[in-house]
Amino acid sequence: MRLFSGTSNQPLAKKVAQRLGVGLGKMEIVRFGNSECRVRVKEDVREKTCVVIQSTSAPSDEHLMEMFFMVDALKRSAAKRLLAVIPYFGYARQNQQHRRGECISAHVVSKFIETIGVDELITVDLHEEQISGFFEIPVSHLSGLPVLAKAIKNYIVKQHVSGQYVIVSPDQGGIERARRFLKVKEDKSGLDLLALRNGSSRTLSSYEQIVVVEKKRDLEKMHVSEAVQVVGDVRDKVAIIVDDIITSGGTIVNAAKAVKETGAKKVLVAATHADFIEGTVEKLQNSPVEKMFVTDTIKISKEKMFAKLEVVSVAEVLAEKIKEIVKN
Ligand code: R5P
Repeated sequence: MRLFSGTSNQPLAKKVAQRLGVGLGKMEIVRFGNSECRVRVKEDVREKTCVVIQSTSAPSDEHLMEMFFMVDALKRSAAKRLLAVIPYFGYARQNQQHRRGECISAHVVSKFIETIGVDELITVDLHEEQISGFFEIPVSHLSGLPVLAKAIKNYIVKQHVSGQYVIVSPDQGGIERARRFLKVKEDKSGLDLLALRNGSSRTLSSYEQIVVVEKKRDLEKMHVSEAVQVVGDVRDKVAIIVDDIITSGGTIVNAAKAVKETGAKKVLVAATHADFIEGTVEKLQNSPVEKMFVTDTIKISKEKMFAKLEVVSVAEVLAEKIKEIVKN
């Protein structure tokens, strides 16, 4: 098996390679002055299973094209089997026609991926599970929620955060995700990750309840949303907001303000993809959120790190799945 990394998230690719005990494959990826990209495989991959890791994060189109060229270069070099690992699947929020006349970009991307010759796909926390149905090739849809839940549990225990906890979905679409977060199990003994309070292993019945912040979005305005109301009881509780993606930070900050205004005593955040744009960092750092956890599906540059942010890795989760697929 050979593992090749695109340029979007090399730190994660290196971690995955380390866990698999392999080096990264030799591939030249150059970008010309006119922005076109050229890819060249620089080792023998004949009859080998090749794994390409590339998050299709910003600049999404560049990273997508780069991935397609990597797959093509490997196929033309006689690779036997092509496994694409896309930790962050860009365009996932365009998975349906939100308004008449829109394209379904996630569907277009899925067709490109199949047409170029990818045999199997691994991805993490798609915006909607339904996207995996766009593909006719096998899709392993992994979750970053267990590593996030573990990080939140450690924080709660270390900081002696006391009181009752409640899981909050920052919008209507995230209810199932919030429920899944609630059910994350640490190990086979079934200990709820978030069931620890002050280091005790007592399961809190209050976890059974989730709270939803009703969100309204004006599709004519980019990156603008509003928290309309909080459905459920957050009074005197520690609110743990769970989301898949943070882009402008608007959804999280509005939800954090809404639960604070309705009586939450603390706000923590767990989100898989840190798709930060200009202004997100300041917005989050100056928000009522006390601490937030994201994963490394998207590379976070030094400038995008801030005091309240902690990054946990999905490398182990990806490496385990690659191992399982490659050995079959
Ligand atoms: C929306 O349905 C997603 O789950 C996220 O909540 C949203 O896309 C985050 O975007 P932003 O940070 O710009 O509000």
